[in-house]
Amino acid sequence: MNEINLTQLVHMLSDMLDLVGVDDLQHGKRVAYMCLETAHALGFEPSDVENLYFAALLHDCGVSTTSIHEHIIKEINWTGAQEHCERGSFLLEAQPLFRHLAPLISLHHTHSQEIDPGVPEMVALSGNLIHMCDRVDALMHQVSIKPWLAVRNSIRDRLAHFQDIWFRRELVEAFLSVSRPESFWLRMQPQHLNQYMAERELADRHQLISTGRLRHVAELAAEIVDTKSHFTASHSQGVSRFSAHLAERAGFETDVCWQIEIAGLLHDIGKMRVPDNILEKPASLSFSERSVMLGHSFESYQILHHVQGFESIARWGACHHETLSGDGYPFHLAEAELDTESRIIAIADIFQALTQQRPYRPAKDPTSVIHSLKYRVEQHQIDPDLVSLVLQDFDACWDAAAIQS
Ligand SMILES: [Fe+2]
Ligand SMILES: [Fe+2]
Ligand SMILES: [Fe+2]
Repeated sequence: MNEINLTQLVHMLSDMLDLVGVDDLQHGKRVAYMCLETAHALGFEPSDVENLYFAALLHDCGVSTTSIHEHIIKEINWTGAQEHCERGSFLLEAQPLFRHLAPLISLHHTHSQEIDPGVPEMVALSGNLIHMCDRVDALMHQVSIKPWLAVRNSIRDRLAHFQDIWFRRELVEAFLSVSRPESFWLRMQPQHLNQYMAERELADRHQLISTGRLRHVAELAAEIVDTKSHFTASHSQGVSRFSAHLAERAGFETDVCWQIEIAGLLHDIGKMRVPDNILEKPASLSFSERSVMLGHSFESYQILHHVQGFESIARWGACHHETLSGDGYPFHLAEAELDTESRIIAIADIFQALTQQRPYRPAKDPTSVIHSLKYRVEQHQIDPDLVSLVLQDFDACWDAAAIQS
């Protein structure tokens, strides 16, 4: 597998994180855009600009649930905000690629007056800048029924009010200067913001990361999505381990097994858009709730296939609810169109989910899992040859899938 563009990969994480807004997408991207424009006006060094940009895109990585997202976007000064800053910082601290961003994330709801004087200057400044742009976006959310252009001056007035209290004076002054033109606000409309991001990918195309580090990014994404509900804790890790094990048993080469492992980690990232009350509902879903749920694997596909080099990973990951009968979703692929790699992840997804409790049923024991797999083979949903491999090697498959969080 070739090396992957780092900016595209961070955009992938940001696409996933932004889904937690459900119908109000691109929060992280708007914050990153506003930070970048303000930082340019302040004359930040290129390396500080890059750290700020990535930190701003990922600043809400500690938010997996729609309920927490609603609090932090609807309440300008929510008292419970620090918890997601600490969680996000903790997650990034564990990844060598992003460890240096953790201090910025932990500060993104700290008022300037409350920042410890011992914090290095650039960390304090960047953290406070993310905080300011994040609150500007919260103010924009509050008036989202009107065009932002019509309310930009009232937002700018409110920001000036927090100068020296929540946000450092130089940050507020720079923001007020860069946000004077209409173009500043118009560029935050989705189509223009996407263009802005695409231009950054082009500018940063020489920045590549190794496949080893890619795994760490995928693990981070898996951890964030699995945290949405305690029922799904470690689900993606289990799917990934089971898939890699089965791929090896099916005779795939190491590089393909490795890509299947990554696809397993990323298969459910689109679930970030499913509201908590649907994921946790202790009964069967209504038709409209199920319709929302059905969108998640398509969302995974849309995010993954944008990354150059991820074409196979996107297909294998996103087809985990397709069936041999052609009745699966979201593409209704026919049997001939479903490659073995996708079939492996589909079985892994079913197997792993059966080993876990769900809000509407208890965890299944090994006998019930075997029964369930055989039933799905009879229904022409999953691949019989792969299921035979699983049954020959059941204990090892169970150990791979049934990870405790
Ligand atoms: Fe935020
Ligand atoms: Fe799924
Ligand atoms: Fe899944």
